[in-house]
Amino acid sequence: MDIKTLRGYRTIQKANLLRANNLYPFFRSIENSEGTVVNVDGREQIMIGSNNYLGLTHHPHVVEAAKKAIDVFGTGCTGSRFLNGNLNIHEELEEKLAKYLGHEAALVFSTGMQTNLGSVSAVCGPKDCLIFDSENHASIIDASRLALGPTFKYKHNNMESLEEVLEENISRFKNVWIVADGVFSMTGELLKMPEVIALAKKYGAHVYIDDAHGIGVMGDRGRGTMNHFNCTDDVQLNMGTFSKSFASIGGVLSGSADLIDYVKHNARSFMFSASMAPSAVATVSACLDVIMSDEPIHENLWENVGFMREGFRDIGFYTYNSSTPIIPIFIGDEMKSLQVTNFLMENGIFATPVLPPAVPKGEALIRTSYMATHKKEELTKVLEVFADAKKKFDIPATFH
Ligand SMILES: Cc1ncc(COP(=O)(O)O)c(C=O)c1O
Repeated sequence: MDIKTLRGYRTIQKANLLRANNLYPFFRSIENSEGTVVNVDGREQIMIGSNNYLGLTHHPHVVEAAKKAIDVFGTGCTGSRFLNGNLNIHEELEEKLAKYLGHEAALVFSTGMQTNLGSVSAVCGPKDCLIFDSENHASIIDASRLALGPTFKYKHNNMESLEEVLEENISRFKNVWIVADGVFSMTGELLKMPEVIALAKKYGAHVYIDDAHGIGVMGDRGRGTMNHFNCTDDVQLNMGTFSKSFASIGGVLSGSADLIDYVKHNARSFMFSASMAPSAVATVSACLDVIMSDEPIHENLWENVGFMREGFRDIGFYTYNSSTPIIPIFIGDEMKSLQVTNFLMENGIFATPVLPPAVPKGEALIRTSYMATHKKEELTKVLEVFADAKKKFDIPATFH
């Protein structure tokens, strides 16, 4: 077949152009990983491009738990929770997560993406609607395509815009869901959650939070953005992933027992897909044990984040309004962001560029993120290389 006839052909043209100029930054093949350091092309790179915020992928208790689960249950469940793939450890994990998050019940899915696809579409029928922050993650955008009710967007984190959209639509639909990221994944910015909840209450809407980057990190022992803002009881559905702080793969939805039971019997991505692998379930459970122990992982994480935020400010970078472990570095020009990424790589730093259309044209950035387990020497080296990059590429100190 002629791939030129396919809708996404332009992405391939762009990829080919970047490959020809040695600037293609994607699908770098990692040969091994120690968490904060990985090997690419036989060379060590300090990893500041992952979502392993708590650094738990290599924690001995976590690794041991994953291995033990394979011994007991084998490597996969070979079926949906609904039928043959429901293990006692799935149910134990759900109880543990509900308690941790402060909601009545929880349901685990095989990925975070599937959590959003199944849950959002299950709660939005033809007489309901979704109201979206304009910078929501792709998985909730795709979920809205599966939902039978319409979606309306409000301007990013803009409460006047949200109120306008609520006013226009609240009486036209049965259930109105405000859906937003708790932590915006590219800029690390927090949702104005207390204001969103106040508007939801004023208009009688429900709130669905995608807290993929907040769970494990924000709030008391990482209970999430809703806990950080003391809003847990006012969030009807909260979603999290295990592909970031929880060192594995999978997702969780939490809320009231009846809503969770409803989703369990209506979310197609849950019912018609094989369940989380035993080793993944055990990994998440072990991560929770470490989080609840007296290991100072959150203290270490915030110390590292503070060190880097200050370091980047001193060098003279614009780092948005991030108050999370995601620290974006504004570059602006797309080509320059690719050259800087290459320069970082050549100097032993693994970071990823964020390019249009993921950000508006002229707003390319390099997304950096930090782990509880980064060592000060590693972070100091990152700052030194970035300081060199600033001089070499004349990176702006302000936005635009
Ligand atoms: C905000 C947000 N939601 C959902 C997801 C999907 O999670 P997962 O990787 O577990 O499928 C991601 C992952 O990139 C994300 O950043």
